[in-house]
Amino acid sequence: MSRIVVVSNRTPGKGPVAGGLAVALRKVLSEREGFWFGWSGKLSEQPAREAHFEDVDGMQVAKIDLTRDDHHAYYAGFSNSILWPSFHLRLDLATIESHWYEGYRRVNGQFARALLPLLKPDDIIWVHDYHLIPLASELRALGARNRIGFYLHIPFPTADALYAIPNHGELMRDLSRYDLIGFQANRDVAAFREFAEHQAPSTFGGLNTKHIDFSRTDVEAFPIGSDPNAFAKLAISPAATKMVHRMKRALGEQNLILGVDRLDYSKGLPQRVEAYEKLLANNHRFRRNVHMLQVAPPSRDTIKEYQETSDQLDAICGRVMGEFAEPDWAPLTYVKRAYGQPSLAGLYRLARVGLVTPLRDGMNLVAHEYIGAQNPENPGVLVLSRFAGAAEIFPEALLVNPFDTDETAEALRMALDMNLDERKSRWQSLMSAARTHNVDDWAISFLDRLAPADKDKSSTR
Ligand code: G6P
Repeated sequence: MSRIVVVSNRTPGKGPVAGGLAVALRKVLSEREGFWFGWSGKLSEQPAREAHFEDVDGMQVAKIDLTRDDHHAYYAGFSNSILWPSFHLRLDLATIESHWYEGYRRVNGQFARALLPLLKPDDIIWVHDYHLIPLASELRALGARNRIGFYLHIPFPTADALYAIPNHGELMRDLSRYDLIGFQANRDVAAFREFAEHQAPSTFGGLNTKHIDFSRTDVEAFPIGSDPNAFAKLAISPAATKMVHRMKRALGEQNLILGVDRLDYSKGLPQRVEAYEKLLANNHRFRRNVHMLQVAPPSRDTIKEYQETSDQLDAICGRVMGEFAEPDWAPLTYVKRAYGQPSLAGLYRLARVGLVTPLRDGMNLVAHEYIGAQNPENPGVLVLSRFAGAAEIFPEALLVNPFDTDETAEALRMALDMNLDERKSRWQSLMSAARTHNVDDWAISFLDRLAPADKDKSSTR
């Protein structure tokens, strides 16, 4: 069987593995004797030419250092101040400094040059996310004939947003150098097809020309998932139970509404707190009976737009406290800190409402994990944004438009008032969908499609 080489910006480190994705890929790599390749997390004085291997709990990980300037242009610059906001349709929050593109390209070239000598001819390469769109082009320019797949974890933008990105034509050509492109949701495949089939021909003078040729690239939705059975177990582990007891002591009879998100403007956090504010304003009976907990670990906090989101959230949480808190009751708790999976699993299990309302999101695994952690005898209710990829998987959640805070407030009311029978029947459907879309099958189906067992493992590119 061919080896698998996973490439992503961030690489796993020692210690407990953070997410289901890393666990699933680790499993694939251990079965297929492959390795993981990516940035070491370290900044160096000189550009590194070679990657160094580390054994991370039995998994081989090849890591490369980047210079401070390259990393800034590639990560904070082009990836997270241009691609991220544009792909999330937030052009108002993009900073278009076109020179960052050179740094982005340079780092992708550096990745390719360090990766190439580590490859065997029949290795299958799986590239992850928007930081690395040009990697296949760069590898092919150096002569790599391997099958290379690309998975986009974030949404694919509309054509208009794509046009706002400097060098978007080149990036689309880069995408066409992959053998397979995987998206989270059908919505993303549709946006991509709209661009490739309708927009690109008029913009770039015809598809399947020397400009951009997608004729040999397969494109499909592979919705990512979690490991809901593992989460169910984790939610009754001693560490999770400790958190549940601690919270029960603090909450008493109050119902918990829980949000867990990186502190990112795409997550719709200010709108979410505003919806909660409306719930309390419109329904006196919930005061003193509910409590909202928002866990929001800081993210990309060197970028101005992220600092501003954090300030906005501070302001609105302060406003809700000032409006509704009493000397012996606080309507919400807001923590800017990360918690380990076991503690989160406990919080999910206890929460009567899982509030997952991003303005736009690739998938959103918090939705999956919340479902996995529920007590089957007394499950909570998932309130979910229509604009998360997860909405295609979980129609039995209470789906809301997160921009419409009245609608979200009403969904919160419905969730809090929902009887046990309805909660159980909705949760059973959700859990069965979460099991169907689990992360192990996701990885297997992508790799099967990229390199079917009975096929030649070299690319026709
Ligand atoms: C999203 C992206 C990932 C990224 C993660 C954390 O989920 O799709 O590629 O790793 O956010 O962001 P960070 O910038 O801290 O890596």
